[in-house]
Amino acid sequence: MGVMEKVVRGRRATLAETPAVLPLDQILRGDCIAQMKALPAKSVDMIFADPPYNLQLGGELFRPDGSHVDAVTDEWDKFDTFAHYDAFTRAWLAEAHRILKDDGTIWVIGSYHNIFRVGAAVQDLGYWILNDIVWRKANPMPNFRGTRFTNAHETLIWASKGEKAKYTFNYRSMKTLNDELQMRSDWEFPICGGGERLKKDGVKVHPTQKPEALLYRILLACTKPGDVVLDPFFGTGTTGAVAKRLGRRWMGIEREGDYIAAAEERIAAALPLDESALATMQSPKSQPKVAFGVLVENGYLAPGTMLVDTKRRWQAMVRADGSLSSPCGANGSIHKVGSTVQGAPACNGWTFWHYEAEGALKPIDALRQTYLLATQP
Ligand SMILES: C[S@@+](CC[C@H](N)C(=O)[O-])C[C@H]1O[C@@H](n2cnc3c(N)ncnc32)[C@H](O)[C@@H]1O
Repeated sequence: MGVMEKVVRGRRATLAETPAVLPLDQILRGDCIAQMKALPAKSVDMIFADPPYNLQLGGELFRPDGSHVDAVTDEWDKFDTFAHYDAFTRAWLAEAHRILKDDGTIWVIGSYHNIFRVGAAVQDLGYWILNDIVWRKANPMPNFRGTRFTNAHETLIWASKGEKAKYTFNYRSMKTLNDELQMRSDWEFPICGGGERLKKDGVKVHPTQKPEALLYRILLACTKPGDVVLDPFFGTGTTGAVAKRLGRRWMGIEREGDYIAAAEERIAAALPLDESALATMQSPKSQPKVAFGVLVENGYLAPGTMLVDTKRRWQAMVRADGSLSSPCGANGSIHKVGSTVQGAPACNGWTFWHYEAEGALKPIDALRQTYLLATQP
């Protein structure tokens, strides 16, 4: 198997493994369909796409005080008909499907103007929708004419290449990020503003620059350090700037020279996080397994130590082979003795049993974490 083949099939491309043929950490100038055609099949871990919205704005928009609203009126957002927009959408989504690794995922963001058309194309092309995320804008632009509801959100589609794909989802990191509650599908962020908003001579560089916080959450949720992320509608390079900070490799495609120049400058100024800061919480499933006996063998708990539950209702003694023995006659693993003494169908012995240290009770799981920290690379 050649190096390229090996890498392309590899699920976890590390910095060292990433194929040399991919134009990594670069902006490719031109049409995204043509540029994607030049990339190898199954070479990208994640795609974030913020395509033209096809806003179909009828004329200029003004605030009640007469000031002009900086809406998206650029040529790159204009399509003659829905049919043209659909053909374009299907063409770029098909190329994206080809270059995505089998276990990769795609994110597409849009508004009511385009996201339903995009969603249909996503499903027609064989992607499998995993979630739709609502980005609730903390500070949306009001509906100045007062003829409709405030348009206060955008929708993101997250999809894998198929129903059976083993895509990356850093569930534990998302829960940690959300104060130990499962992360929901409605996210609130302000629109991009303040110092983050790129301006030239006081004028916004780009009408639809996305907030970095949005990309931060997406990359943290669905990629690993070293993964390759492609953004085919790069604009000001929000995806590249966040990917660089988070230790991911990136590629951007953009047609407009002014945006490319702004993105290059912005990404050059972005500072990558230290490797130790990039380590994230792992779900118990992805943590290496440690048998309780290994802690006894390695002197983390001496045979003869008494373990108790948090309220000291039950106790059990640690034996030389890592089994427990309780005064009520139950013997066996930390889990079995925990469930037997409580009369419960199951018990997680790691969190149920505690040992005494410095006058306080600590779960034996703390010793497992200490052991893992000391022994894992
Ligand atoms: C909605 S904006 C993306 C903004 C970007 N997410 C950001 O945070 O700055 C879409 C971008 O895609 C670019 N674009 C539109 N059609 C394109 C095409 N066919 N190929 C490459 N770029 C294209 C536009 O120039 C525009 O900058």
